[in-house]
Amino acid sequence: MRIVTDVLSMQREAERLRKSGQRIVLVPTMGYLHAGHESLISRARVLGDVVVVSVFVNPTQFAPNEDYTRYPRDFKRDVELAENAGAHIIFHPSVEEMYTQQHSTFIDCGDVTQRFEGAFRPTHFRGVTTVVAKLFNITRPHVAVFGQKDAQQAFIIKKMVSELNFDIEIVVAPIVREVNGLALSSRNTYLSPAERERATALYRALQHSKKRILEGFFTWDVIRNEMRTILEESNPTQIDYIAFIDPATFEELTTVPQGTVLVALAVRYGSTRLIDNLLIHRD
Ligand code: PAJ
Repeated sequence: MRIVTDVLSMQREAERLRKSGQRIVLVPTMGYLHAGHESLISRARVLGDVVVVSVFVNPTQFAPNEDYTRYPRDFKRDVELAENAGAHIIFHPSVEEMYTQQHSTFIDCGDVTQRFEGAFRPTHFRGVTTVVAKLFNITRPHVAVFGQKDAQQAFIIKKMVSELNFDIEIVVAPIVREVNGLALSSRNTYLSPAERERATALYRALQHSKKRILEGFFTWDVIRNEMRTILEESNPTQIDYIAFIDPATFEELTTVPQGTVLVALAVRYGSTRLIDNLLIHRD
């Protein structure tokens, strides 16, 4: 496995691979890799010939009051995990390599970036789309793999790819969870053992919504209140939102449609903010 740290070498390598007919699959990450990232890398392996994993904690997607400086980092461990999972290249640039002091170009995907996650993190998604577009231009992938864990991010990336005509296929892989239901996240390391236990309430609340939605007689307000009760038993510091979303448009549902519903939530324990979601198929 090769580690590439500069943009020009990565672009040259990608060009060489493309010329030799190889299919490049990119898995963008911020490192501190876990089994969720590993599942994306495994999926990437079967989608092409060369798997590029980017490891870059992207400063532009963190607001000044967020956890950019304390975001967990362990590059040595990431290299091992990515290699064992089947990555061929790790792209690991410095902040200076990715952004000049004068950087002022951003991609804004509109209204959807201000809803749900965006209501609490208004500049987050423009940082994500900007760095992902840069990573696309640097690693030149045929396919890129994202996780359903960040459902709104995956939706926004697909929208950007479609509206800006990137010739890249976007694949979204399912959420990997611990046996107790807690969705794996690099940010779980912030949780104390007791908070980790309490945080299993997110999945319990999502499971409850699934049961109620599949039963068929409900209003969104009733289910939201029941989920809130389940979450409150775990003593969260704050519940940011519990939302019922149309996955096709990423708009909040007012009526109860046939088809698929995305239930998404964000909850804080201490200073740790966790997100999770569940796709529920009704027919
Ligand atoms: P990061 O949080 O490191 O996540 C990288 C990818 O792993 C994302 O597509 C995310 O959805 C996926 N992922 C995280 N936890 C997962 C889980 N439990 N199961 C399945 N997939 C999971 O998301 C980012 O980084 C950044 O915003 C990035 C896209 C790299 C841009 O900086």
